Amino acid sequence: MSEKESQRKPGMSRRRFLTYTIASTGGFLASGVLYPMIRFAVDPLLQKGTETEFEDVGPVEEFGKEPKKVEFFIKRKDGWYQKEGGEKATAWVLKIGGEILALSPICKHLGCTVKWEGGGFQNQFYCPCHGGLYTKDGINVPGTPPNAPLDTYETKVEGGRLLLGPIKQRGGGA
Ligand code: FES
Repeated sequence: MSEKESQRKPGMSRRRFLTYTIASTGGFLASGVLYPMIRFAVDPLLQKGTETEFEDVGPVEEFGKEPKKVEFFIKRKDGWYQKEGGEKATAWVLKIGGEILALSPICKHLGCTVKWEGGGFQNQFYCPCHGGLYTKDGINVPGTPPNAPLDTYETKVEGGRLLLGPIKQRGGGA
């Protein structure tokens, strides 16, 4: 054994110590950045789909042939996110042929809010942003910007009360 080798102390060299320290610090910092990103991407996949509770919006006999605006709070669990107290929502509710139809007010063009007989348009829903029009049952009027009917809420009646649930896309359209 040479003299130099015999002078080396047992244990870790300074070079190896620095290498481990830098590597572990870098790994720690990288995990702090990567973990939230990976969790954000993967977590919803591990959860069940969006769960929306049905909400009571009033006695079913209050709704007739004219669209009536109702406001309520949707309690929706979407992946890991659930807003406390729910999210404020609006629906236009009417009866067509004895069936309840609950329309979302969100325009299918770029998401503005439609209003029944707004802008002076009789017997139609009107979107003020780009002049979109929908018939009374929420079908988009050809020649106006929206290219799909208004979405609808699932409905059910329990004990004479109307309950609104998740939103459904209708597809098709004029
Ligand atoms: S957002 Fe409604 S017409 Fe454009």
